[in-house]
Amino acid sequence: MLDMVPSQVKLSVPADRINPIQDMFNAVAPRYDFLNGLLSAGCDRYWRKIAVDELEPVANRLFLDVATGTADIALELALRGKARVIGVDFSAAMLELGKNKVNARNMQSSVQLFPGAAESLPLKSDSFDGAISAFGARNFSNIDHAIREIHRVLKPNGKIVILEFSFPQNGFLQWLYRLYFEKILPIMGRLISGHRNAYSYLPDSVGAFPKGEAFASILKEAGFGSVSFKELTFGITTIYTGSKHA
Ligand SMILES: C[S@@+](CC[C@H](N)C(=O)[O-])C[C@H]1O[C@@H](n2cnc3c(N)ncnc32)[C@H](O)[C@@H]1O
Repeated sequence: MLDMVPSQVKLSVPADRINPIQDMFNAVAPRYDFLNGLLSAGCDRYWRKIAVDELEPVANRLFLDVATGTADIALELALRGKARVIGVDFSAAMLELGKNKVNARNMQSSVQLFPGAAESLPLKSDSFDGAISAFGARNFSNIDHAIREIHRVLKPNGKIVILEFSFPQNGFLQWLYRLYFEKILPIMGRLISGHRNAYSYLPDSVGAFPKGEAFASILKEAGFGSVSFKELTFGITTIYTGSKHA
């Protein structure tokens, strides 16, 4: 078991900044995993697996999971590739649930979780072989800044993978999906999570997030090369990838 803080983590950087998004994730944390599975009809697990595939997790590599939440991606990465993973999130309640999962699987030697904000990662530069964020990016208060931070902490040739919601392109499917996502899901989310706004914030934040070429441009402007993206499940989610130049 790793008792020590890995050399890549700078604990001197405070992560106690409180903002409404942080409050919201702290509030919904106890129902988060359950609602994820229910509202996505189990697709969330499939989407995470495909995103993890993109990082090609193999032994002896070190990966970063930004906005790790309850650590599903971090655990998948570590289990699949016997890789080491550091997860960072600014919600103490989400991290606590993540740590419980890591402990329950006895994976403390490969997965370590730390408090931190994506916009000022408490991590040393040029440290990670790959970095991923699943359903985190649309929440970042400054997306350009957060992507530049991820670029900073990657080693040369390190890969970034971003999994985020998008909308189906097909007109009828988009209409049907928006009906569910914008009208039905917020009601179900409110009833089950007990949080008034969290599940209306979800479609709002997805609507505001730059999609397709617009997000690819953000990756390129941050310095990433070989940027590409692919849609999953009719375009309900999109996976973006890029590499830090050598
Ligand atoms: C929708 S959850 C996704 C969690 C996890 N990655 C998953 O796949 O289920 C979004 C997570 O992003 C975290 N988050 C949002 N904005 C953040 C930021 N600026 N810095 C760090 N974490 C952030 C939240 O606390 C929350 O745990």
